[in-house]
Amino acid sequence: MRRTQVGIVGAGPAGLVLSHLLYRQGIESVVLESRTREYVQERVRAGVLEQNTVDLLTDLGVGERMRREGLVHRGIELRFQGRGHRIDFDELTGGRAITIYAQAEVIKDLIDARLAAGQPIVFEAENVSVHNLEGPRPSIQFRKDKDSEPEELFCDFIAGCDGFHGVCRPSIPNEALTVYERGYPFAWLGILAEAPPSSEELVYSHHDRGFALLSMRSRQLSRLYLQCPGDENINDWPDERIWQELRTRLACDGWTLTEGPILQKGITEMRSWVVEPMQFGRLFLAGDSAHIVPPTGAKGLNLAVADVRILARAIAEFYSSGSCGLLDTYSDTCLRRVWKVQRFSWWMTSMLHRFDSDNAFDRRRQLGELDYVTSSRAAAQSLAENYVGLPME
Ligand code: FAD
Ligand code: PHB
Repeated sequence: MRRTQVGIVGAGPAGLVLSHLLYRQGIESVVLESRTREYVQERVRAGVLEQNTVDLLTDLGVGERMRREGLVHRGIELRFQGRGHRIDFDELTGGRAITIYAQAEVIKDLIDARLAAGQPIVFEAENVSVHNLEGPRPSIQFRKDKDSEPEELFCDFIAGCDGFHGVCRPSIPNEALTVYERGYPFAWLGILAEAPPSSEELVYSHHDRGFALLSMRSRQLSRLYLQCPGDENINDWPDERIWQELRTRLACDGWTLTEGPILQKGITEMRSWVVEPMQFGRLFLAGDSAHIVPPTGAKGLNLAVADVRILARAIAEFYSSGSCGLLDTYSDTCLRRVWKVQRFSWWMTSMLHRFDSDNAFDRRRQLGELDYVTSSRAAAQSLAENYVGLPME
């Protein structure tokens, strides 16, 4: 394996969806992933797919299990002051919906389909590095495993789909990039529990003790989150403390939380982060390697998929007509969506979390905002159209 058209670093949602989009256009690619296949298939991460993402996966022929096992939700609940208020996506967006289907399942489906088509994914690639990004023939150096000789894969383009901690973005000279960021003084403690979800739809709860979210992975598995301090140690959270806090923050008249064995728990940092531009020479960044959103808007995976849809179209135009037009505007086109999604994710986060720097005025203002969003059709519609996914360019 010495050359390919597109070298893709990272087998997350961005890298794998890109590989399928290119394959469909007859464009060859190699995916290089530093982790094992099992690891990337089991990682517990996002769970909400926008309508755009569902439509694309279906279109790519990898949506069959998602259609069978995914849960279609036509609304969410915002809960505050002990009362629930439904945001009806169906009615507010003209029939659009979200699908609950775990990122890990999306990854399994994408990997299975790619390998079944005989297309390469190199798992456990060691010492991955990218070179000659500004020339016509960039390359990726790596080792197939610890003991093998270094290899060099020459490409026309490299897609940096290697997430926030990957190697692609740090290979771009600092002076070529501008970073925009905002941190949050809290994190999310997330659990996966063997318990039927206590609600048909997701519940986002504002509470004086902090935010809580009830989500799910299936009719048997609940996924629940609690806002916690940024430097929290998971060992300070025995199971009973987690359930106690969830019961308090999600409390609502006539409603009880179903509990069960906790299968997995972890802490997720929260940040809003964007790098501009998303291109350097023939290296194109996509997904978390270029931007991070706080999870409150459920957008990370969906935004990664939106980027590679734009990238695949640009690369396809290059091979069919020789034009670099769409490649040259790739970053600007993506960033327009990225900033709208950043705004939405920041807004959901600010409306629903407890900020220790807030005073009594700020808490009342948050409740005023929640009351507005759940009582004004215009405000509810704005939330709904962002949550189900803004139209693609
Ligand atoms: P990733 O999924 O990060 O994929 C990048 C891939 O590149 C990984 O497989 C990685 O192993 C690989 N890689 C890294 N470095 C190298 C290298 N040097 N060489 C080769 N391969 C490399 N979003 C939500 O909407 N809701 C959530 O609840 C949620 N929870 C999350 C929990 C965690 C712990 C994390 C980290 C993210 C979460 N997200 C969530 C965000 C969402 O999962 C991401 O936005 C999404 O995975 C982005 O996809 P990606 O393909 O860009 O990056
Ligand atoms: C999840 O199910 O993991 C999930 C759902 C909604 C969010 C974030 C995470 O906003």
